[in-house]
Amino acid sequence: MTATPDTPRPDPRRHMPATLRNRDAILAVLQETLPRQGVLLEIASGSGEHAAFMAPQLTPLVWQPSDYEAENLPSIDAYAGDSRIANGGSGNILPAVQLDVTQPSWPVQAGIAALLCCNMIHIAPWAAAEGLFHGAAIILTKNAPFILYGPFRRNGAHTAPSNAAFDDSLQSRNADWGVRCLDTDVLPLAQRTGFVLERIVEMPANNLTVIFRKL
Ligand SMILES: C[S@@+](CC[C@H](N)C(=O)[O-])C[C@H]1O[C@@H](n2cnc3c(N)ncnc32)[C@H](O)[C@@H]1O
Repeated sequence: MTATPDTPRPDPRRHMPATLRNRDAILAVLQETLPRQGVLLEIASGSGEHAAFMAPQLTPLVWQPSDYEAENLPSIDAYAGDSRIANGGSGNILPAVQLDVTQPSWPVQAGIAALLCCNMIHIAPWAAAEGLFHGAAIILTKNAPFILYGPFRRNGAHTAPSNAAFDDSLQSRNADWGVRCLDTDVLPLAQRTGFVLERIVEMPANNLTVIFRKL
């Protein structure tokens, strides 16, 4: 049915409750890691709640949100619009772009100053992690930070019973999903694709933020 002036459009905003719990801790890491200027590309922006909360606190950096699912893009843009209004009309969030990390070409210019990816590589096949690192190596400038947030195994083992249960639930939904091992899966992939590990930050709820630099 076509929307008329009398039929309000449905609200496109999605809500991912975890973003409210982890956003302050992630922002604190970004504030001590990111360059002051340039474009940050966020992969797998989801609802767009991270972008709307964090980007205004990182000006003059410009935030480019993206997601694989087309249905997430209106949500991301709606939250970005709210954030623009809350900040007196000036915004530093670009319109969201559809970006599938497994595709060989990404719809962004090279010369990206920083990359952020939260909670994606365990809710996607391993090919998504590979695509993420291969694509990041192409679009990031030399020495740019690549910030990866989520749950990880360490040396093959879960770091908490809750992460083990989460891993089981992921794999029951899709056998190709699962909590990745930082040491045996992710770090070797980073090394192969031209990244050096800079720092691992312990985060609330048994998550990690892993910071790489592009060589
Ligand atoms: C659990 S959500 C995380 C969203 C947000 N980053 C957060 O932390 O709340 C996982 C996201 O990964 C995205 N995703 C899955 N496969 C992807 C792919 N191949 N390329 C890019 N994004 C992907 C999904 O569309 C979804 O928005």
